[in-house]
Amino acid sequence: MSTAPTPPVPVLSDGIVSLRPLAERDIPEIVAGCQDPQVATWTEVPSPYARADAEHFLRERSSGGSQAHLPTWAITVVPEDTWVGTIDLRPDGSRGADIGYLLAAHARRAGHMVRAIRLVSAWGFSALGLQVITWRAVVGNDASLHAARRAGFQVPSHAFPRYLVHRGERADCWIGTLAPEDLAAAVRSAEGRRQYLGPELTRRELDVLGLLARGQANRTIAIGLGISENTVKNHVRSILEKLQATSRSEAVVTALRLGIVDLPS
Ligand SMILES: CC(C)(COP(=O)(O)OP(=O)(O)OC[C@H]1O[C@@H](n2cnc3c(N)ncnc32)[C@H](O)[C@@H]1OP(=O)(O)O)[C@@H](O)C(=O)NCCC(=O)NCCS
Repeated sequence: MSTAPTPPVPVLSDGIVSLRPLAERDIPEIVAGCQDPQVATWTEVPSPYARADAEHFLRERSSGGSQAHLPTWAITVVPEDTWVGTIDLRPDGSRGADIGYLLAAHARRAGHMVRAIRLVSAWGFSALGLQVITWRAVVGNDASLHAARRAGFQVPSHAFPRYLVHRGERADCWIGTLAPEDLAAAVRSAEGRRQYLGPELTRRELDVLGLLARGQANRTIAIGLGISENTVKNHVRSILEKLQATSRSEAVVTALRLGIVDLPS
């Protein structure tokens, strides 16, 4: 296991779900959210759960803590900044990582976790260079299974007997894996159902992105699409914002990874 430093946890957002670093102000919501019996049943979160547990969790995950190397986010739902859940990656030091997550009961069944998983996974593949993310759940945790599969995890239908240690006991579990291509396929298929993450790229933005991937300059794109150069600039600005990229080339790399555009043949 590696404890190599990881890049600082960035804000990740698809316009509907926004992930940000955990903060002290989240403690009351974390404590309330972790009272839920489902959390006690399916996770390793302490039960009963007190304020001191949340304080300990934050301390461990913040800089200098023994688990500071585990990228951890508070899940919020735009436009609020209130904690509704936690999601983390636990890198194994060999370009793999486990994923863990939970949502407060009031925020469930709205697709938020699927969005959060996709955002964190895309970041893990690009920023950490992960080749695979693994998901494990105690058999019977259908909500987690559905969220993982919806996000693109490949989960065989058979259980792995007694593979997991859950609250001190051996438990049967499901195991799933997500590779970059699984994520890209899930995003493409969600896009096909018009469920792509958040503020979808418009058809025009996709056209512009496709031409960016071919290395075209604004002027050439403008001529090709029969629009003004200023309009191209506006599209590029919007694309960078939606893909959380700081440059055209970063936007192209992200789009390629997510399978939004193909490489020129
Ligand atoms: C697991 C958990 C995060 C899922 O949250 P969620 O809000 O249901 O997630 P999403 O809304 O993104 O749902 C994903 C899919 O699962 C489906 N789903 C949710 N609960 C379900 C259930 N009990 N049975 C079957 N499907 C379920 C949703 O309908 C959705 O499918 P859809 O997109 O086809 O409609 C949440 O239930 C939770 O926090 N549970 C307690 C902690 C936990 O189990 N953590 C995971 C440990 S491995």
